[in-house]
Amino acid sequence: MKMFTILLMSFLVIAAGVGTGQPLVPALIIMGDSVVDAGNNNRLTTLVKANFPPYGRDFFDHNATGRFTNGKIATDFTAENLGFTSYTVPYLSQDANGTNLLTGANFASGASGFLDATALLYNAITLNQQLKNYKEYQTKVMNIVGRERANEIFSRAIHLLSTGSSDFLQSYYINPILNRIFTPDRYSDRLMKSYTTFIQNLYGLGARRIGVTTLPPLGCLPAAITMFGGAGNNTCVERLNRDAVSFNTKLNNTSMSLTNVLPGLKLVVLDIYNPLLSMVLNPVENGFFESRRACCGTGTMETSFLCNARSVGTCSNATNYVFWDGFHPSEAANRVIANNLLLQGIPLIS
Ligand SMILES: *[C@@H]1O[C@H](CO)[C@@H](O)[C@H](O)[C@H]1NC(C)=O
Ligand SMILES: *[C@@H]1O[C@H](CO)[C@@H](O)[C@H](O)[C@H]1NC(C)=O
Ligand SMILES: *[C@@H]1O[C@H](CO)[C@@H](O)[C@H](O)[C@H]1NC(C)=O
Ligand SMILES: *[C@@H]1O[C@H](CO)[C@@H](O)[C@H](O)[C@H]1NC(C)=O
Ligand SMILES: *[C@@H]1O[C@H](CO)[C@@H](O)[C@H](O)[C@H]1NC(C)=O
Ligand SMILES: *[C@@H]1O[C@H](CO)[C@@H](O)[C@H](O)[C@H]1NC(C)=O
Repeated sequence: MKMFTILLMSFLVIAAGVGTGQPLVPALIIMGDSVVDAGNNNRLTTLVKANFPPYGRDFFDHNATGRFTNGKIATDFTAENLGFTSYTVPYLSQDANGTNLLTGANFASGASGFLDATALLYNAITLNQQLKNYKEYQTKVMNIVGRERANEIFSRAIHLLSTGSSDFLQSYYINPILNRIFTPDRYSDRLMKSYTTFIQNLYGLGARRIGVTTLPPLGCLPAAITMFGGAGNNTCVERLNRDAVSFNTKLNNTSMSLTNVLPGLKLVVLDIYNPLLSMVLNPVENGFFESRRACCGTGTMETSFLCNARSVGTCSNATNYVFWDGFHPSEAANRVIANNLLLQGIPLIS
């Protein structure tokens, strides 16, 4: 199975790399939260940022671009795997202009969620605003290449949505009112409503190839263990992982229903829960030696401004760490996740 996987991936990469030199799809459109934000939050007045060291210390020129990790985020690897020669440009950056837009754009914003209310808590870009920005983007692309060619780009482009962790970790679990009104199950149903509307709207804008990532094992994120694990507990918080699994089942079901009613839509649920869980539970087999403590600071909590150049204890080399900060995987883990996404996302390419 592993061998097959490697062969298939080599084939895909070669298919992208040689021959025409064209990427496998015309464009990559990215929406969601900090797991895929490549710098949009730099332009916002928010506490959720990552455009300062030690973020980005293993990126090109050690540049802290606003990616919430030490190097590349998973979608950077995805862009490479698909044969793009540059990373998807953050829509709010100066570089998001002219012909740069033709290969896609990244609309994601750290601390955004399925619910607009989650993003608003942190002054992040809501999912609905991300859609509006995408619509504006489409107009720009039409102005460059004409309506017909533009529509072809939109329908063949891969649209990736990665969000939901903030709805739970940075809203539901820490908000006593939400907690009292909704069970995790009912709360997930609310998120599903929002998700359904989002997919319908994206479809309405011409998207036909959409990948949506599952929730990660929320209870294994270092900050979640610290916040919700109970004193002296060093293992994943089962309750949170159960909620994530239950959410992911709903996501799968809802996605199948949407596929059934929206003609021509390829909608693939991309599992990041199991690959990440496997890295956490069996670090050594996956090439890691540390999966509880994150690299930055004490590794138990720090993220965003709390993970900074003065944080005490930051590891010197994150290569063998699953987590870079309290909430975000390291570049090394992102590479593993992206390779998994590529295999699961093959229906979106063909
Ligand atoms: C660092 O990243 C920022 C934001 O993407 C960019 O504007 C700047 O040119 C980069 N600097 C270098 C030295 O690459
Ligand atoms: C985008 O704008 C910058 C200045 O903000 C300019 O230097 C660059 O050439 C522009 N790129 C394209 C592709 O038009
Ligand atoms: C630690 O976590 C495990 C699994 O979530 C749980 O069964 C156990 O009761 C926890 N212990 C403490 C002291 O909180
Ligand atoms: C998912 O769909 C299956 C089959 O349609 C159904 O049995 C199951 O109850 C659904 N689960 C959820 C959580 O909606
Ligand atoms: C989604 O549901 C289908 C059909 O029940 C199943 O084959 C598939 O494995 C499920 N995917 C995930 C990620 O749970
Ligand atoms: C980190 O460790 C890996 C393997 O142990 C090594 O290949 C890499 O060069 C190291 N990186 C730095 C910045 O020292």
